[in-house]
Amino acid sequence: MKKRIAILLSGRGSNFEALTDSVSNGRIPNAEISVVISHREGAPGIERARARGIDARVVPSKGLDRDAYDRQVVAVLQEKKIDLVCLAGYMRLLSSYFVQAFRGRILNIHPSLLPAFPGLEAQRQALEHGVKFAGCTVHFVDENLDAGPIILQATVPVRDDDTVDSLSARILAEEHRIYSEAVRIVLEGRYRVEGRRVVLLKEAEAAKSHV
Ligand code: GAR
Repeated sequence: MKKRIAILLSGRGSNFEALTDSVSNGRIPNAEISVVISHREGAPGIERARARGIDARVVPSKGLDRDAYDRQVVAVLQEKKIDLVCLAGYMRLLSSYFVQAFRGRILNIHPSLLPAFPGLEAQRQALEHGVKFAGCTVHFVDENLDAGPIILQATVPVRDDDTVDSLSARILAEEHRIYSEAVRIVLEGRYRVEGRRVVLLKEAEAAKSHV
């Protein structure tokens, strides 16, 4: 049976598109993008999903506290029998209700080498701090912001003439690459979590998928 992936997004949706392309071209085998959810009406990523014929839903957050909102999202995920939730530019903290409902089955991509520069405008933070290498991180999601066990990271050099836009573009290309790779690793169960460490396993050693 194909693994069922949900993607949650707030904006542009380029990571959603990269994951969808990887499902189509076999870089992520035996999976399907079953639903795309946003809290924002008019999020370009929702339009992009609809254009690809994917079930794309807006669950408006206005007037709801975090827990009440997440209960609605989790209800959709359960209705769609989702195996893995991928946050892709989803600019909301998850409630512990959400994290507990899908513990170990929620991934996030963040445009920095965590634990450096969590939160908003990570690329600007990196540039202003003066680091020589920036990058991106795919990690499991827990109750804290940009904080769960790290699955994959990729580095990019920071150039002296970089702007936030040029650095973000270089990081984004790596995001698209490692997010698909991490999703594949998780769906195939090719990892073991030891405390904060995610140890990657060779195919032959793969445990039964946790997802
Ligand atoms: C990406 O750079 C992603 O890493 C970042 O938002 C952007 C979304 O772009 N996420 C975060 O900062 C999460 N803390 P996209 O909508 O084109 O995928």
